[in-house]
Amino acid sequence: MPAHAAPPPPPAAVTAGVPTPTSFLWGAATSAHQTEGNNVGSDLWALEVRPDSPLSEPSGDACDSYHRWPEDLDIVRDLGLNAYRFGIEWARIEPAPGRVSQAALGHYRRVIDGCLERGITPVVTLHHFTSPAWFRASGGWTAPGGVEAFARYVRAVRPILDGVTWACTINEPNMLAMVAARVGGADPDLVAGALPPPDQSLAEALIRAHHAACGELADVGGLRTGWTVANQTFQALPGAEEATREWAWSREDQFLDAARHDDFIGVQAYTRVVIGPDGPVAPDPTTRRTQTGWEFYPEALEAAVRHTAARIPTPILVTENGIATDNDDERREYLHHALAGLGRALADGVDVRGYLHWSLLDNYEWGSWHATFGLTAVDRRTFRRVVKPSAHWYGRLARARRLPGA
Ligand code: BGC
Repeated sequence: MPAHAAPPPPPAAVTAGVPTPTSFLWGAATSAHQTEGNNVGSDLWALEVRPDSPLSEPSGDACDSYHRWPEDLDIVRDLGLNAYRFGIEWARIEPAPGRVSQAALGHYRRVIDGCLERGITPVVTLHHFTSPAWFRASGGWTAPGGVEAFARYVRAVRPILDGVTWACTINEPNMLAMVAARVGGADPDLVAGALPPPDQSLAEALIRAHHAACGELADVGGLRTGWTVANQTFQALPGAEEATREWAWSREDQFLDAARHDDFIGVQAYTRVVIGPDGPVAPDPTTRRTQTGWEFYPEALEAAVRHTAARIPTPILVTENGIATDNDDERREYLHHALAGLGRALADGVDVRGYLHWSLLDNYEWGSWHATFGLTAVDRRTFRRVVKPSAHWYGRLARARRLPGA
């Protein structure tokens, strides 16, 4: 790992920088499978525990957030954040086709109430990579009745969304479709490297499922509905502009276009992909990388919100952005640059409604526990949470409601 630049100093009294509107969400994000633990009815759990599993580690108890969510919400509040994105798990709500668990609905309603009681705006995700094992076994999204099954689940969740103002239907449909293409529609190997173009029939089924879910939620008073897209910041080398446009359409832009009439679009950005005439160009071996092997490129966030705004008129919520690192100074450095870029976009009039950092917790990174994205460390045996200095640094910006100046 190359030497890091000195991290930016803590903003003791934050008076400079770009002010954000009072309604701006300053928050952190998680997903159900990555934090709750024992998501035994899900397709990914089935893959994790298979004797020949391609995944190096199982999720197991994860962060035990299914039980420790009040502690997680206290951390969000105590940091001075005003928003929390978390997942509702389909496999828990509908453990068998058509069988809705009232107990699971009650659980998630308590989490929503827990947010509201603490003055935290809940941002709810209805599908974050995992589906019930029965759904996959019956052919998933592209099978007859697949889209309707998702709509039925969303219908089951609708009664508990009272007072919720932000709902994400499907997280990163583009990643889901690309990963499925890579493994021929079989088991999801979410520890993805270079990804093929998405399985187009799956992409279209996901778009139909998203629109069906938006329809189901249309009459929930005050609720904004959208989906979240993995923005990959495709950058063309000279001469590769057309190739990059094609590359980006199938892997990203068609999913943005499908959100044109939504209440918001979730932008998720971590790094960039440079495209030459023959496709992606591997970064130079000396390039600074993060624990996931991705290029350290905090400028991705600004590029992603600008790309999204140039493509569709939909208001933007940054639903994920962060870095996998075991060096918390490096997290702060990344965050400083990413937020400064967001401030530039905001100052230029890009309609950004909030920023949710990935992640609140060091959690299960789809096959392993190695990559730590969290503002908070979690002891894997005791589940004790330890808030990192970068989280306090971020919290001070949130309290001051100011994005750092460049
Ligand atoms: C996903 C998260 C994941 C993060 C870091 C996003 O693609 O939505 O679940 O942990 O990136 O890899």
